[in-house]
Amino acid sequence: MAHLNFSDFYQVPDLKFNIQKMRSDLDKILQKKGFKSPKGVTNFGAISLNQIPNDDSSIAGNNIRGIYWTIPDEKGKEVVRDVPIDESKYTQIVPEFKNTYFNEVYETLKKKFKLGRVRLLLKEPRSTLSWHKDPEPRLHIPIITNLGCSMVIENIAKHLPADGHVTITNNTKYHNFFNGGEQARVHLVACVLENPFK
Ligand SMILES: [Fe+2]
Repeated sequence: MAHLNFSDFYQVPDLKFNIQKMRSDLDKILQKKGFKSPKGVTNFGAISLNQIPNDDSSIAGNNIRGIYWTIPDEKGKEVVRDVPIDESKYTQIVPEFKNTYFNEVYETLKKKFKLGRVRLLLKEPRSTLSWHKDPEPRLHIPIITNLGCSMVIENIAKHLPADGHVTITNNTKYHNFFNGGEQARVHLVACVLENPFK
């Protein structure tokens, strides 16, 4: 049997964050605001961590999700959904996160990577995304997860543990994320504007 190739999952070396601190600050954030979805969208929830400076609309409506391509049915034809995002303009931390550990995480990540939007993404129990691809790779820090959670890129699935490590995934290929557990999954997810997979 051929060996599985995990080259679309890049674990960043020498970088590890404190997950307990992230979890306790997530609890504090959730007391102030909840996960949001664009109107009519199911199985998607996000809290934006950064925004276009002084522009609340940049983290409202469809801007919390953004453009992607999907193959919706048996015809196998690719279609485009949602709105394009000007990722590089997202440079300001959202005020609620300012005095939290997330600010430190954001500053550290910004020094190492060219980032666009940074969001906390919810995957509800027993839910899945569409089969889709994004304009750019994504950086993941799992905060709350369970063994029934996996990212699937083309035909390769990988569970990403909440151990403080950072993984960049090649979301320019077709992929999905499913949570087969009975507990909500929360990841910090950032758009990475320099593609390490090219
Ligand atoms: Fe995606």
